[in-house]
Amino acid sequence: MPTVIVDGKEIEIGAQERLNCIEAARLAGVEIPHYCWHPGLSVVASCRMCLVETGSRDPATGKVTMVPKLVPGCQTPARDGTVIVTDSQLVKDSRARVEEALLIDHPIDCSICDKAGECLLQDYHFEHGQPERRADINPFHSQRRDVGPTVTLFVDRCIMCTRCVRFTREVSGTSELMVANRGAKEEIDVFPGFPLDNKLSGNVVDLCPVGALGDKDFLYQQRVWFLKREANVCGGCSAGCSIVTEHNQDTVYRLKPRENPHVNKWWICDDGRYGWHHLHDPSRLLAAGRLVSSAAERETVEWPAVVTRIRDDLKSAGRLAVAVSPMLTLEEAWMLCAVARSIDPRAYLAVGHVPTSGTDQSFPGGFTIRAEKCPNRIGVEAIVGLFETDLHRWHNFLDHIRQGQADAAWVTAAYPGSWIDDSTAEPFGKLRSLVVQDLFESPLSRLATWQLPATGFAERTGTWVNVAHRAQTFAAAVRAPAGVWPEGRLLWNMLGRRGLYDPAAVRRQIAESAVSLAVLAGDVPPNGVDLRVNQIASA
Ligand code: FES
Repeated sequence: MPTVIVDGKEIEIGAQERLNCIEAARLAGVEIPHYCWHPGLSVVASCRMCLVETGSRDPATGKVTMVPKLVPGCQTPARDGTVIVTDSQLVKDSRARVEEALLIDHPIDCSICDKAGECLLQDYHFEHGQPERRADINPFHSQRRDVGPTVTLFVDRCIMCTRCVRFTREVSGTSELMVANRGAKEEIDVFPGFPLDNKLSGNVVDLCPVGALGDKDFLYQQRVWFLKREANVCGGCSAGCSIVTEHNQDTVYRLKPRENPHVNKWWICDDGRYGWHHLHDPSRLLAAGRLVSSAAERETVEWPAVVTRIRDDLKSAGRLAVAVSPMLTLEEAWMLCAVARSIDPRAYLAVGHVPTSGTDQSFPGGFTIRAEKCPNRIGVEAIVGLFETDLHRWHNFLDHIRQGQADAAWVTAAYPGSWIDDSTAEPFGKLRSLVVQDLFESPLSRLATWQLPATGFAERTGTWVNVAHRAQTFAAAVRAPAGVWPEGRLLWNMLGRRGLYDPAAVRRQIAESAVSLAVLAGDVPPNGVDLRVNQIASA
């Protein structure tokens, strides 16, 4: 087994190949400070923060031969017998000098900088810098430059790591950013007339190790040390990117990518990154309302009464049809189907409306934005398939309603934008009872006997299955607005279950239903699990 020695500690690097010294040291629990290196970008070894001592051990004699100078850990491969020294005085002095050199030009404006609290320059200075500043403090000139619709550049904070430039060349493939000038005058800029305006632009803010690139959407909104973080999944499209939802007091402030090699690597698109504002839209539906007159007058009904009255209404209406939204989690979808069949054993179950926009958009770095603008079509199809022999889709559901084959319908939606027009909604007006559960009022919800509020992606708990059949579980980052019961809680109560909604218990029940879903019986790892593993194994 290949072995490297990090600060005297032997560590097996196993079958993992092409590790550099930073990655090998991480396996030994040692973090080598670095600015310019990023695992998703090419190596330039320009910041010199990662300098370490290296050598090699002769496998026969055990004799160690060291390289006579410091080398960049990001650019130096770790092979069998590689010796890495990160804690010598030579290495420590080198790091302190690099920090000092960077801080000669960097303004000490942490009190007004958005990056304060998560800035590598701050962190490394306290960990590796000189105890005293030997140069004058550079006054902050606020050379703020508008580089695009989403990103602003604070020129004098830049340490020229060039991660952002490489990102636009290698991942987004748009090459808007460049290094202008040379030597002490070099700085990041855009080409004249070509702003940083691509669907992945927000990632350069995450990549910036200091506060040079600011996210206009987040700028001065919240100090990062007030933010709480919840591992979550983006609901913007069927890619199902792993994200972190950063929030405070039930208000979302920003979304950031969460590294997941199986899904989105280190990136998310701007549609997902900025696609959370609807959660705090004041026009959201916030209470359960039942129609009391033909003039669309509604009485507000308390949730415990909703649980029983909806069941009674639908049961007395007759034949039931249910549309299961691809915005619901696996658990919610399963409970909705179970509730429907408990009301009407022959209830017609269909996959709800699947919103789409354009075609899939792929980037040179491998990232793809999906045309399908919902996170769980695959999962909802799997659940509906457990209850129905033929898979009915939204257009089948509409035909079913138009042909008068249902007396009552329950349509779950939870779409962040408008999704249905008056003419499509019109046949639903003939039903005896109609339940519509959505985030906002729509032509369909205006016809509803029962208008129920839905929850947004950051308010849900459960599992989504992305377009590649990867199931990811997540917990709600923020609570639903006051007066809103999440779908899971409502359905859990309608099934007569006791206590709080328990998605893990529902998953165990789902896992018993089909071999392809059996893997959900256990804990789902943070990077998710491929639902095809059982099918592949049994094939
Ligand atoms: Fe190695 Fe910058 S991280 S030189």
